[in-house]
Amino acid sequence: MGLLESIDLNKLPKHVAIIMDGNGRWAKERGEDRVFGHHQGVISVREIVNACAEIGIQYLTLYAFSAENWNRPVEEVNALMELLVNTIRKEIDELDKNNVKLHIIGDFASLPAICQKELNEAMELTSKNTGLNLVLALSYSSRQEIAEAARKIAMDVAAGKLKPEDINENSFKNYLYTSEFPDPELMIRTSGEFRVSNYLLYQLAYAEFYFTNTHWPDFRKKDLIEALLNYQQRERRFGKTSEQIQTNTTQHV
Ligand code: IPE
Ligand code: IPE
Ligand code: MG
Repeated sequence: MGLLESIDLNKLPKHVAIIMDGNGRWAKERGEDRVFGHHQGVISVREIVNACAEIGIQYLTLYAFSAENWNRPVEEVNALMELLVNTIRKEIDELDKNNVKLHIIGDFASLPAICQKELNEAMELTSKNTGLNLVLALSYSSRQEIAEAARKIAMDVAAGKLKPEDINENSFKNYLYTSEFPDPELMIRTSGEFRVSNYLLYQLAYAEFYFTNTHWPDFRKKDLIEALLNYQQRERRFGKTSEQIQTNTTQHV
């Protein structure tokens, strides 16, 4: 039995979130420029998107550029923005053909105008698709997202559209960038760092974390399958005891 066949299709996460880390180190190890690593990383993005669509993952969120990444050297930031525009241009027809629907989360307005234009067109083109939802986190900061949600809630309360007593977990979720998506059940970070780097802090509350030393440009379909198999071996307890989970009792839910 191949790796792919060992995946239990009834126990797939609906939503996988990835921190694609290690492009710079991957390039340095080869005596290349960091930007070369970002270019190679796009090949992994393509393969992982296709693999998720094939396996039947419904949502894939990729951390492509954090709000903090604006602090990198300007040449690297420019190269990343250029790569984003070129990649969307090159890949969008194939994504559309594969029934992928593109979404963006993050501070969209802070992206260069050309990126916004390209992304808007790509989202429009794929808006009716019903396959994999591909969510790109761009200029994304989870704390900013939560603070923005608080501000929007305050504005709705001030405008009389929302009562303070109606603010709860369910209504709060509607103010996040991710309001239309289920929470990720699995979060993968490549390149051996054990941190969340301001990524989906609210949404990852009960996600399983999977860390691998593999740098992002080397992370391919077989690595994704290994992560999924690892996830499927975990017992998700949500505060209950292992015995409760195993006997499938429903008391005190
Ligand atoms: C991830 O790789 C890509 C982005 C953050 C845009 P890095 O560029 O962070 O690579 P390392 O961590 O420096 O190796
Ligand atoms: C997180 O990676 C952001 C992305 C993958 C886009 P970083 O490499 O920027 O994270 P830190 O700064 O090392 O935590
Ligand atoms: Mg990094």
